[in-house]
Amino acid sequence: MNYEQVEAAARAGATTTDEIAEYVGLDRSHVSRELKKMVDDGVLDRHPDPDGNGYIYSIPLDDTDEDLDDLPVLGDRDYDWERYVPSLAELPEYVSVRGELEDIEAALDQRTAPDGPIPHFRLVGPPGTGKSLLAQYLAAKRGWPLFDVQITAQMREADLLGSPHMIGGETVWVDGPVVRGLLCSRERDALVLFDEVNRAPFRNKSALQPALDSRTSVTIKPRGNEEIRGQTDHFVTVATMNEGAQYKVYDLDPAERRRHHNTWPIPYTGLVDAGREVDLLLEQAPVDEATAEMMVSIANDLRRKADADGGTLQQGVPLPALVRWAKTAVAYEDANRPNPWMRAARTALINPRYDRGDVLTPNEETGSMYAENSPARAVERLVTHYLDENEPEPIVDALRGGA
Ligand SMILES: Nc1ncnc2c1ncn2[C@@H]1O[C@H](COP(=O)(O)OP(=O)(O)O)[C@@H](O)[C@H]1O
Ligand SMILES: [Mg+2]
Repeated sequence: MNYEQVEAAARAGATTTDEIAEYVGLDRSHVSRELKKMVDDGVLDRHPDPDGNGYIYSIPLDDTDEDLDDLPVLGDRDYDWERYVPSLAELPEYVSVRGELEDIEAALDQRTAPDGPIPHFRLVGPPGTGKSLLAQYLAAKRGWPLFDVQITAQMREADLLGSPHMIGGETVWVDGPVVRGLLCSRERDALVLFDEVNRAPFRNKSALQPALDSRTSVTIKPRGNEEIRGQTDHFVTVATMNEGAQYKVYDLDPAERRRHHNTWPIPYTGLVDAGREVDLLLEQAPVDEATAEMMVSIANDLRRKADADGGTLQQGVPLPALVRWAKTAVAYEDANRPNPWMRAARTALINPRYDRGDVLTPNEETGSMYAENSPARAVERLVTHYLDENEPEPIVDALRGGA
Protein backbone atom coordinates (compact mmCIF):
# COMPACT_ATOMS: atom_id res chain seq x y z
CA MET A 1 0.00 0.00 0.00
CA ASN A 2 1.41 3.42 -0.88
CA TYR A 3 0.63 6.93 0.23
CA GLU A 4 -1.38 7.75 -2.92
CA GLN A 5 -3.75 4.89 -2.14
CA VAL A 6 -4.24 6.18 1.41
CA GLU A 7 -4.84 9.67 0.11
CA ALA A 8 -7.44 8.40 -2.36
CA ALA A 9 -9.11 6.42 0.42
CA ALA A 10 -9.17 9.50 2.68
CA ARG A 11 -10.63 11.65 -0.12
CA ALA A 12 -13.34 9.05 -0.61
CA GLY A 13 -14.27 9.34 3.06
CA ALA A 14 -12.33 6.48 4.71
CA THR A 15 -11.02 7.34 8.18
CA THR A 16 -10.48 4.13 10.19
CA THR A 17 -8.08 1.23 9.50
CA ASP A 18 -11.03 -0.96 8.50
CA GLU A 19 -12.43 1.62 6.10
CA ILE A 20 -9.04 2.27 4.51
CA ALA A 21 -8.33 -1.47 4.18
CA GLU A 22 -11.70 -1.98 2.53
CA TYR A 23 -11.17 0.89 0.10
CA VAL A 24 -7.70 -0.25 -1.02
CA GLY A 25 -8.78 -3.90 -0.97
CA LEU A 26 -5.83 -5.14 1.10
CA ASP A 27 -5.41 -7.26 4.19
CA ARG A 28 -6.24 -5.36 7.41
CA SER A 29 -3.06 -6.22 9.33
CA HIS A 30 -0.89 -5.18 6.39
CA VAL A 31 -2.77 -1.88 6.12
CA SER A 32 -2.50 -1.30 9.86
CA ARG A 33 1.28 -1.79 9.74
CA GLU A 34 1.72 0.49 6.73
CA LEU A 35 -0.43 3.19 8.31
CA LYS A 36 1.69 3.11 11.44
CA LYS A 37 4.84 3.57 9.33
CA MET A 38 3.32 6.58 7.60
CA VAL A 39 2.41 8.09 10.98
CA ASP A 40 6.01 7.59 12.14
CA ASP A 41 7.23 9.27 8.94
CA GLY A 42 4.95 12.26 9.59
CA VAL A 43 2.94 12.04 6.35
CA LEU A 44 -0.16 10.86 8.22
CA ASP A 45 -1.52 11.68 11.64
CA ARG A 46 -3.54 9.45 13.97
CA HIS A 47 -6.13 10.46 16.56
CA PRO A 48 -8.43 8.68 19.00
CA ASP A 49 -11.73 8.33 17.14
CA PRO A 50 -14.19 10.85 18.66
CA ASP A 51 -17.06 8.52 17.70
CA GLY A 52 -15.57 5.11 18.52
CA ASN A 53 -12.92 3.11 20.31
CA GLY A 54 -10.28 2.92 17.58
CA TYR A 55 -8.25 5.51 15.75
CA ILE A 56 -8.87 7.70 12.75
CA TYR A 57 -6.28 8.87 10.25
CA SER A 58 -5.83 12.33 8.80
CA ILE A 59 -3.60 13.94 6.21
CA PRO A 60 -1.95 17.17 7.34
CA LEU A 61 -2.48 19.90 4.73
CA ASP A 62 -0.05 22.62 3.76
CA ASP A 63 -0.29 25.90 5.60
CA THR A 64 -2.60 28.34 3.94
CA ASP A 65 -2.94 32.05 4.53
CA GLU A 66 -6.68 31.79 4.59
CA ASP A 67 -8.58 32.45 7.74
CA LEU A 68 -9.33 29.09 9.25
CA ASP A 69 -11.55 30.17 12.12
CA ASP A 70 -14.62 28.85 10.33
CA LEU A 71 -13.20 25.35 9.97
CA PRO A 72 -14.86 22.71 12.13
CA VAL A 73 -12.55 21.35 14.84
CA LEU A 74 -11.94 17.60 14.99
CA GLY A 75 -14.53 16.05 17.33
CA ASP A 76 -15.82 19.54 18.30
CA ARG A 77 -13.15 19.57 21.03
CA ASP A 78 -15.18 17.02 22.96
CA TYR A 79 -12.10 15.03 23.93
CA ASP A 80 -12.09 11.77 25.86
CA TRP A 81 -8.99 12.55 27.96
CA GLU A 82 -8.85 9.05 29.40
CA ARG A 83 -7.62 7.86 26.01
CA TYR A 84 -4.48 9.98 26.38
CA VAL A 85 -3.38 8.29 29.63
CA PRO A 86 -0.39 6.00 28.91
CA SER A 87 -0.68 2.41 30.07
CA LEU A 88 1.51 1.63 33.07
CA ALA A 89 1.68 -2.03 32.03
CA GLU A 90 3.34 -1.14 28.74
CA LEU A 91 6.18 0.94 30.20
CA PRO A 92 9.33 -0.10 32.05
CA GLU A 93 9.31 1.23 35.60
CA TYR A 94 11.46 4.36 35.85
CA VAL A 95 14.23 3.83 38.40
CA SER A 96 15.27 7.09 40.03
CA VAL A 97 18.97 7.83 39.60
CA ARG A 98 19.48 10.52 42.24
CA GLY A 99 16.02 11.01 43.71
CA GLU A 100 14.72 13.11 40.81
CA LEU A 101 11.41 11.24 40.57
CA GLU A 102 10.74 11.67 44.29
CA ASP A 103 11.66 15.39 44.07
CA ILE A 104 9.25 15.92 41.20
CA GLU A 105 6.48 14.04 42.99
CA ALA A 106 7.03 16.16 46.11
CA ALA A 107 6.79 19.37 44.08
CA LEU A 108 3.67 18.08 42.33
CA ASP A 109 1.97 17.26 45.62
CA GLN A 110 2.38 20.90 46.71
CA ARG A 111 1.53 22.56 43.41
CA THR A 112 -1.92 23.75 44.45
CA ALA A 113 -0.81 24.96 47.91
CA PRO A 114 -0.55 28.75 48.40
CA ASP A 115 2.91 29.66 47.08
CA GLY A 116 3.38 26.06 45.93
CA PRO A 117 5.94 25.34 43.20
CA ILE A 118 4.99 25.84 39.57
CA PRO A 119 4.73 22.35 38.03
CA HIS A 120 7.26 22.85 35.24
CA PHE A 121 10.34 20.65 35.24
CA ARG A 122 13.43 20.15 33.13
CA LEU A 123 15.69 17.09 32.84
CA VAL A 124 19.14 17.38 31.30
CA GLY A 125 21.69 14.68 30.49
CA PRO A 126 23.23 12.40 27.90
CA PRO A 127 20.87 10.45 25.58
CA GLY A 128 19.41 7.20 26.89
CA THR A 129 19.30 7.96 30.61
CA GLY A 130 15.52 7.62 30.85
CA LYS A 131 14.48 11.29 30.71
CA SER A 132 11.58 10.77 28.30
CA LEU A 133 10.62 7.57 30.13
CA LEU A 134 10.40 9.48 33.42
CA ALA A 135 7.73 11.79 31.97
CA GLN A 136 5.77 8.89 30.43
CA TYR A 137 6.03 6.85 33.60
CA LEU A 138 4.88 9.75 35.78
CA ALA A 139 1.80 10.28 33.60
CA ALA A 140 1.01 6.55 33.62
CA LYS A 141 1.50 6.25 37.37
CA ARG A 142 -0.74 9.20 38.19
CA GLY A 143 -3.29 8.37 35.50
CA TRP A 144 -2.74 11.69 33.75
CA PRO A 145 -3.20 12.30 30.02
CA LEU A 146 0.16 12.74 28.29
CA PHE A 147 0.72 15.13 25.39
CA ASP A 148 4.01 14.35 23.72
CA VAL A 149 5.61 17.23 21.85
CA GLN A 150 8.67 16.01 19.95
CA ILE A 151 10.75 19.09 19.25
CA THR A 152 12.82 19.02 16.05
CA ALA A 153 14.91 21.54 14.12
CA GLN A 154 12.26 21.75 11.37
CA MET A 155 9.40 22.13 13.83
CA ARG A 156 6.75 24.72 12.95
CA GLU A 157 4.21 26.52 15.08
CA ALA A 158 1.54 24.30 13.49
CA ASP A 159 3.17 21.23 15.07
CA LEU A 160 2.58 22.77 18.50
CA LEU A 161 -0.75 24.52 18.07
CA GLY A 162 -2.54 22.73 15.24
CA SER A 163 -3.22 22.82 11.52
CA PRO A 164 -5.84 21.92 8.93
CA HIS A 165 -6.04 18.24 8.03
CA MET A 166 -8.03 16.26 5.52
CA ILE A 167 -10.19 13.70 7.29
CA GLY A 168 -12.74 11.58 5.47
CA GLY A 169 -12.82 13.93 2.48
CA GLU A 170 -13.30 17.07 4.54
CA THR A 171 -10.97 19.75 5.80
CA VAL A 172 -10.96 19.90 9.57
CA TRP A 173 -8.89 21.82 12.09
CA VAL A 174 -6.83 19.48 14.28
CA ASP A 175 -5.61 20.92 17.58
CA GLY A 176 -1.90 20.48 18.24
CA PRO A 177 -0.61 18.76 21.40
CA VAL A 178 -0.04 22.01 23.31
CA VAL A 179 -3.61 23.17 22.66
CA ARG A 180 -4.95 19.77 23.76
CA GLY A 181 -2.82 19.90 26.90
CA LEU A 182 -4.14 23.37 27.78
CA LEU A 183 -7.76 22.32 27.16
CA CYS A 184 -7.27 19.19 29.27
CA SER A 185 -5.76 21.20 32.14
CA ARG A 186 -9.07 23.06 32.48
CA GLU A 187 -10.72 19.80 33.48
CA ARG A 188 -7.96 17.68 35.06
CA ASP A 189 -4.18 17.35 35.39
CA ALA A 190 -2.39 17.19 32.05
CA LEU A 191 1.26 16.33 31.49
CA VAL A 192 2.92 17.90 28.47
CA LEU A 193 6.31 16.47 27.51
CA PHE A 194 8.52 18.88 25.56
CA ASP A 195 10.94 16.23 24.40
CA GLU A 196 14.42 17.36 23.34
CA VAL A 197 13.44 20.99 23.75
CA ASN A 198 16.94 22.16 22.76
CA ARG A 199 16.73 20.80 19.22
CA ALA A 200 14.88 23.82 17.81
CA PRO A 201 16.06 27.43 17.88
CA PHE A 202 14.11 29.77 20.14
CA ARG A 203 12.24 31.48 17.28
CA ASN A 204 10.50 28.20 16.34
CA LYS A 205 9.21 27.83 19.89
CA SER A 206 8.23 31.41 20.68
CA ALA A 207 4.52 30.48 20.59
CA LEU A 208 5.18 28.33 23.65
CA GLN A 209 6.38 31.09 25.94
CA PRO A 210 2.95 32.35 27.11
CA ALA A 211 1.91 28.72 27.71
CA LEU A 212 4.76 28.34 30.18
CA ASP A 213 4.38 31.53 32.21
CA SER A 214 1.54 32.83 34.37
CA ARG A 215 -0.65 33.36 31.32
CA THR A 216 -0.85 29.61 30.61
CA SER A 217 -2.28 30.32 27.19
CA VAL A 218 -1.49 30.26 23.49
CA THR A 219 -2.82 32.22 20.54
CA ILE A 220 -3.71 30.32 17.37
CA LYS A 221 -3.01 32.89 14.66
CA PRO A 222 -4.55 31.09 11.64
CA ARG A 223 -7.81 30.77 13.56
CA GLY A 224 -8.36 34.52 13.86
CA ASN A 225 -6.03 34.76 16.90
CA GLU A 226 -8.11 32.37 18.94
CA GLU A 227 -6.83 32.28 22.52
CA ILE A 228 -6.70 28.96 24.38
CA ARG A 229 -6.22 29.26 28.12
CA GLY A 230 -5.25 26.49 30.48
CA GLN A 231 -5.22 26.07 34.25
CA THR A 232 -1.71 26.74 35.57
CA ASP A 233 -1.80 24.28 38.50
CA HIS A 234 -2.93 21.46 36.23
CA PHE A 235 -0.71 22.22 33.25
CA VAL A 236 2.27 20.07 34.27
CA THR A 237 5.25 20.19 31.92
CA VAL A 238 8.46 18.18 31.64
CA ALA A 239 11.12 19.41 29.21
CA THR A 240 14.01 17.12 28.35
CA MET A 241 17.37 18.08 26.89
CA ASN A 242 19.89 15.64 25.51
CA GLU A 243 23.44 16.81 25.81
CA GLY A 244 26.20 15.48 23.59
CA ALA A 245 27.68 15.93 20.17
CA GLN A 246 25.30 13.66 18.22
CA TYR A 247 23.26 16.39 16.60
CA LYS A 248 22.89 20.13 16.52
CA VAL A 249 21.39 21.60 19.66
CA TYR A 250 20.66 25.15 20.73
CA ASP A 251 21.16 26.88 24.05
CA LEU A 252 17.92 27.75 25.75
CA ASP A 253 17.02 31.41 25.71
CA PRO A 254 17.33 32.72 29.32
CA ALA A 255 13.61 33.56 29.41
CA GLU A 256 12.79 30.06 28.20
CA ARG A 257 15.13 28.49 30.72
CA ARG A 258 13.41 30.34 33.57
CA ARG A 259 10.03 29.09 32.41
CA HIS A 260 11.03 25.45 32.74
CA HIS A 261 11.81 26.06 36.45
CA ASN A 262 13.27 23.21 38.54
CA THR A 263 16.01 21.34 36.71
CA TRP A 264 17.77 18.04 37.34
CA PRO A 265 20.86 16.64 35.64
CA ILE A 266 20.21 12.96 34.92
CA PRO A 267 23.49 11.01 34.77
CA TYR A 268 24.02 7.43 33.63
CA THR A 269 22.54 5.13 36.27
CA GLY A 270 25.62 2.89 36.24
CA LEU A 271 27.98 5.71 37.19
CA VAL A 272 25.89 6.49 40.26
CA ASP A 273 25.09 2.90 41.24
CA ALA A 274 26.46 0.09 39.05
CA GLY A 275 24.31 -2.53 40.80
CA ARG A 276 21.12 -0.71 39.92
CA GLU A 277 22.03 -0.60 36.24
CA VAL A 278 22.95 -4.30 36.34
CA ASP A 279 19.43 -4.99 37.62
CA LEU A 280 17.89 -2.90 34.81
CA LEU A 281 20.00 -4.76 32.25
CA LEU A 282 18.95 -8.13 33.67
CA GLU A 283 15.32 -7.09 33.25
CA GLN A 284 15.71 -5.85 29.70
CA ALA A 285 18.31 -8.13 28.11
CA PRO A 286 18.83 -11.93 27.86
CA VAL A 287 22.03 -12.04 29.91
CA ASP A 288 23.19 -13.59 33.17
CA GLU A 289 24.44 -11.55 36.10
CA ALA A 290 28.18 -11.92 35.44
CA THR A 291 27.71 -10.77 31.85
CA ALA A 292 25.52 -7.84 32.91
CA GLU A 293 28.20 -6.78 35.41
CA MET A 294 30.87 -6.95 32.73
CA MET A 295 28.76 -4.89 30.33
CA VAL A 296 28.09 -2.18 32.90
CA SER A 297 31.83 -2.06 33.76
CA ILE A 298 32.67 -1.60 30.07
CA ALA A 299 29.97 1.08 29.71
CA ASN A 300 31.20 2.91 32.81
CA ASP A 301 34.80 2.92 31.54
CA LEU A 302 33.63 4.34 28.22
CA ARG A 303 31.45 6.95 29.94
CA ARG A 304 34.37 8.11 32.09
CA LYS A 305 36.64 8.22 29.05
CA ALA A 306 34.05 10.22 27.11
CA ASP A 307 33.78 12.64 30.00
CA ALA A 308 37.50 13.13 30.57
CA ASP A 309 39.05 16.30 29.14
CA GLY A 310 40.92 15.67 25.93
CA GLY A 311 39.46 12.18 25.74
CA THR A 312 39.23 10.55 22.33
CA LEU A 313 35.65 9.30 22.73
CA GLN A 314 32.84 11.55 21.56
CA GLN A 315 30.11 9.83 23.53
CA GLY A 316 29.40 7.33 26.26
CA VAL A 317 27.14 4.28 26.08
CA PRO A 318 23.52 4.41 27.29
CA LEU A 319 21.62 1.46 28.70
CA PRO A 320 19.53 0.90 25.52
CA ALA A 321 22.77 0.41 23.54
CA LEU A 322 23.86 -2.28 26.02
CA VAL A 323 20.50 -4.00 25.57
CA ARG A 324 20.95 -4.00 21.78
CA TRP A 325 24.48 -5.38 22.14
CA ALA A 326 23.26 -8.23 24.32
CA LYS A 327 20.35 -9.16 22.05
CA THR A 328 22.61 -9.14 19.00
CA ALA A 329 25.27 -11.28 20.73
CA VAL A 330 22.68 -13.87 21.74
CA ALA A 331 21.37 -14.01 18.17
CA TYR A 332 24.91 -14.56 16.86
CA GLU A 333 25.55 -17.19 19.54
CA ASP A 334 22.38 -19.04 18.51
CA ALA A 335 23.53 -19.15 14.91
CA ASN A 336 27.04 -20.28 15.88
CA ARG A 337 28.67 -17.15 14.53
CA PRO A 338 32.34 -17.03 15.65
CA ASN A 339 33.16 -14.73 18.63
CA PRO A 340 29.54 -13.68 19.05
CA TRP A 341 30.17 -11.10 21.81
CA MET A 342 33.02 -9.32 20.04
CA ARG A 343 31.21 -9.54 16.72
CA ALA A 344 28.08 -8.02 18.28
CA ALA A 345 30.16 -5.34 20.02
CA ARG A 346 31.38 -4.24 16.60
CA THR A 347 28.06 -4.30 14.74
CA ALA A 348 25.72 -3.15 17.54
CA LEU A 349 27.90 -0.92 19.70
CA ILE A 350 31.02 0.36 17.95
CA ASN A 351 30.14 0.78 14.26
CA PRO A 352 26.88 2.70 14.83
CA ARG A 353 28.36 5.02 17.47
CA TYR A 354 32.07 5.67 17.01
CA ASP A 355 34.29 7.07 14.25
CA ARG A 356 36.36 4.30 12.67
CA GLY A 357 38.86 6.41 10.73
CA ASP A 358 39.62 5.70 7.12
CA VAL A 359 40.81 2.11 6.89
CA LEU A 360 40.48 -0.08 3.83
CA THR A 361 42.54 -3.09 4.87
CA PRO A 362 42.63 -4.75 8.29
CA ASN A 363 45.68 -4.05 10.45
CA GLU A 364 48.13 -6.92 9.90
CA GLU A 365 49.03 -7.30 13.53
CA THR A 366 45.70 -6.83 15.29
CA GLY A 367 43.25 -7.71 12.50
CA SER A 368 41.30 -4.55 13.39
CA MET A 369 39.32 -2.70 10.73
CA TYR A 370 39.63 0.54 12.70
CA ALA A 371 42.33 3.21 12.43
CA GLU A 372 44.79 2.82 15.28
CA ASN A 373 44.02 6.18 16.91
CA SER A 374 40.29 6.16 16.24
CA PRO A 375 37.60 6.13 18.95
CA ALA A 376 36.29 2.86 17.49
CA ARG A 377 39.68 1.21 18.03
CA ALA A 378 39.82 2.47 21.63
CA VAL A 379 36.45 0.88 22.35
CA GLU A 380 37.42 -2.33 20.54
CA ARG A 381 40.58 -2.60 22.66
CA LEU A 382 38.65 -2.11 25.87
CA VAL A 383 35.97 -4.67 24.96
CA THR A 384 38.66 -7.18 23.90
CA HIS A 385 40.38 -6.71 27.23
CA TYR A 386 37.20 -7.46 29.19
CA LEU A 387 36.17 -10.37 26.98
CA ASP A 388 39.60 -11.98 27.32
CA GLU A 389 39.11 -11.95 31.07
CA ASN A 390 35.56 -13.20 31.15
CA GLU A 391 34.06 -14.44 27.91
CA PRO A 392 30.33 -14.78 28.65
CA GLU A 393 29.04 -18.31 29.11
CA PRO A 394 26.58 -19.35 26.43
CA ILE A 395 23.23 -18.19 27.68
CA VAL A 396 21.15 -20.96 29.19
CA ASP A 397 17.80 -21.39 27.45
CA ALA A 398 15.83 -20.59 30.56
CA LEU A 399 17.26 -17.08 30.63
CA ARG A 400 16.32 -16.30 27.13
CA GLY A 401 12.57 -15.93 27.51
CA GLY A 402 11.05 -14.55 24.34
CA ALA A 403 14.19 -12.77 23.15
N1 LIG B 1 16.54 5.17 35.11
C1 LIG B 1 15.99 4.28 34.27
N2 LIG B 1 15.01 3.46 34.72
C2 LIG B 1 14.44 2.55 33.87
N3 LIG B 1 14.80 2.39 32.58
C3 LIG B 1 15.77 3.18 32.07
C4 LIG B 1 16.41 4.15 32.90
N4 LIG B 1 17.32 4.79 32.12
C5 LIG B 1 17.24 4.26 30.90
N5 LIG B 1 16.31 3.27 30.86
C6 LIG B 1 15.99 2.47 29.66
O1 LIG B 1 16.45 3.20 28.54
C7 LIG B 1 15.37 3.46 27.63
C8 LIG B 1 15.58 4.79 26.94
O2 LIG B 1 15.33 5.84 27.82
P1 LIG B 1 14.83 7.27 27.28
O3 LIG B 1 13.78 7.77 28.21
O4 LIG B 1 14.46 7.19 25.84
O5 LIG B 1 16.18 8.14 27.42
P2 LIG B 1 16.40 9.69 27.14
O6 LIG B 1 15.07 10.33 26.95
O7 LIG B 1 17.11 10.17 28.37
O8 LIG B 1 17.27 9.75 25.93
C9 LIG B 1 14.13 3.36 28.48
O9 LIG B 1 13.00 3.03 27.71
C10 LIG B 1 14.51 2.25 29.46
O10 LIG B 1 14.33 1.00 28.85
MG1 LIG C 1 14.41 11.08 25.12
